[in-house]
Amino acid sequence: MTNHTTIIDLDPDDTARTEAAARFLADSVHKSIVGLVPYSSPKYAGFLRAATRPPAPMRTLLVRMAVRDSHLVGAADWRILPDRLFLNGLTVSERHRGTGVGRELVADGLRIADSLGLTELGLDVIADNSAALSLYGRMGFTLTTTTGWYELPAGAGSDSGPARATDWPSFRAHHDAYGFGDLTLRLSTGDTSKVRLVGRTLRSEQPEPAPGVRACARLIGVERITCTAAVPPPGDFSFLCESVRMLRKL
Ligand SMILES: CC(C)(COP(=O)(O)OP(=O)(O)OC[C@H]1O[C@@H](n2cnc3c(N)ncnc32)[C@H](O)[C@@H]1OP(=O)(O)O)[C@@H](O)C(=O)NCCC(=O)NCCS
Repeated sequence: MTNHTTIIDLDPDDTARTEAAARFLADSVHKSIVGLVPYSSPKYAGFLRAATRPPAPMRTLLVRMAVRDSHLVGAADWRILPDRLFLNGLTVSERHRGTGVGRELVADGLRIADSLGLTELGLDVIADNSAALSLYGRMGFTLTTTTGWYELPAGAGSDSGPARATDWPSFRAHHDAYGFGDLTLRLSTGDTSKVRLVGRTLRSEQPEPAPGVRACARLIGVERITCTAAVPPPGDFSFLCESVRMLRKL
């Protein structure tokens, strides 16, 4: 066994590796939020296959895989945002941890950002993940903001006002195909609010779900309602974990 690592792009026609990459990314999910993020979907490999289908210059998603002795030993999922390269997920296989694979995958991201003319990288990490915090700190990332993950009582509360689901058909189709989907609600004020459904768990990015969220939850048969926010939600909630945003300038 050598420590020589090659880093390659995911080929969507390579079914075995696409499924392996999806399993790797599912392993990157912190135990406190398993089931709440798209990586937990059993259909995530199908999403990866579709999202990596366009040619690289047209894509916003890039999966880089670390290979040693022909074996996949790590995977990183990068998102190309307008202003930065964002590390959406990173995992190294258990038996190869501590041998420099994580460092190589992050260094690869630094090179990609540079080649795209992006001057910043970002990521979110759960606050008690000391190995990941240490890796990112070593690679020059610094802590910025924190966000709490909370679970709200599923049946409690009433709808505080009307909202229209603007993209219901595409949301349902995406959820059926890949096990998760984002729904946009247009409120009576004209503002919009997005919710994400993973399986039967709904997540809103506001401390208090926007009007219409509970009506949608009933329509879809949601079992859990969660939210991510900088401040705790009003009323009853369970605290799940805290995530930290880290940034690095090139
Ligand atoms: C976090 C993770 C990706 C690190 O990958 P890795 O290949 O083991 O890391 P490396 O061997 O490249 O180590 C690079 C640096 O990370 C830090 N590090 C790695 N493992 C660590 C550990 N268990 N404890 C403390 N620091 C650790 C060290 O600072 C190390 O630098 P050093 O070698 O100069 O001491 C890996 O542990 C992993 O896959 N964990 C499970 C999934 C996960 O948590 N993903 C991150 C989600 S944000």
